[in-house]
Amino acid sequence: MRPRGREDHFNYDSELRMKKTVLITGAAQGLGENLARMYAAHDYRVVGLDLNEARLTALASEIELHPFVVDISVRSSWEAALPQIAEVSGGGLDAVIANAGILKMGSAVSMTDPDWDILVKVNYTGALMTAKMTLPMLERSKGNIVFVGSISSNFAAANDVGYVATKHGLAGIMKSVALDFGPKGVRSNMICPGWMKTPMSNEEMEGIMKKYDCTLDEAYARATTNLPLRRPAEMEEIAEVIRFVSSSQASFLTGVNLTVDGGGSTVDVGMLALDALHADYA
Ligand SMILES: NC(=O)c1ccc[n+]([C@@H]2O[C@H](COP(=O)([O-])OP(=O)(O)OC[C@H]3O[C@@H](n4cnc5c(N)ncnc54)[C@H](O)[C@@H]3O)[C@@H](O)[C@H]2O)c1
Repeated sequence: MRPRGREDHFNYDSELRMKKTVLITGAAQGLGENLARMYAAHDYRVVGLDLNEARLTALASEIELHPFVVDISVRSSWEAALPQIAEVSGGGLDAVIANAGILKMGSAVSMTDPDWDILVKVNYTGALMTAKMTLPMLERSKGNIVFVGSISSNFAAANDVGYVATKHGLAGIMKSVALDFGPKGVRSNMICPGWMKTPMSNEEMEGIMKKYDCTLDEAYARATTNLPLRRPAEMEEIAEVIRFVSSSQASFLTGVNLTVDGGGSTVDVGMLALDALHADYA
């Protein structure tokens, strides 16, 4: 049966729609790649978007992935790919993972204008564009969107105003989508990971490695020394939470910011200096 409505510009193929389709942005490496492998292993049809064509193609030779070179922040880039995406997905989408994101460091004074502009363009406008472009297909399948925020969606970090501001902004997009599209059966949530071992955070560890002349593992140990779990997440640990949130088992979950940070958000930073006094309490 073909659904009616303003968005009915792609064919809806009920046979293709028998298999669930997930669209993942930033699928070529890091968490996005991990998600692509995981959903494929759980028998989803995976549509992977990224700027990095070489890595996407390599991944598509390993798993069942439909690769699309798309800059998520550019409308024309989406529009060029959407007809083909709709063709492989049968015109609907069961889940969209708005995962692509970038990091540029700097304070309100030191951050360069181009760095600020690209952060807003990719992390903020790119997330809105992802929702804008995929919601018609999500509506058709009563699917859901999961935005990948960060612990920086909830807290400030030093010298990081652009990332912190754009990741805070995601919460507004996620909640607005939940409110506006809930009545149409579409759910919208956000996962906020703390430290997780990906190429992006490996790069961030370089500063610690240089300063303390230490290995990558030692740098992660330093970065997570105040977390209750005392370690960064493996990508799978974040990916599994995302898969749950996007699944029908979470069918009443919408408008939620789910923080997955090894317990970091429970720590009272004002009390950290007293920790040493209570080192043996446990
Ligand atoms: N690594 C962490 O510890 C951590 C913690 C919290 C949140 N996050 C968030 O998780 C998400 C994934 O992070 P990661 O560590 O896997 O990053 P990553 O840098 O390893 O991978 C990001 C992917 O996004 C792609 N990408 C970047 N800009 C794009 C664009 N304009 N259009 C399409 N694709 C684009 C890149 O090519 C890359 O393949 C990001 O949103 C990041 O902010 C990461």
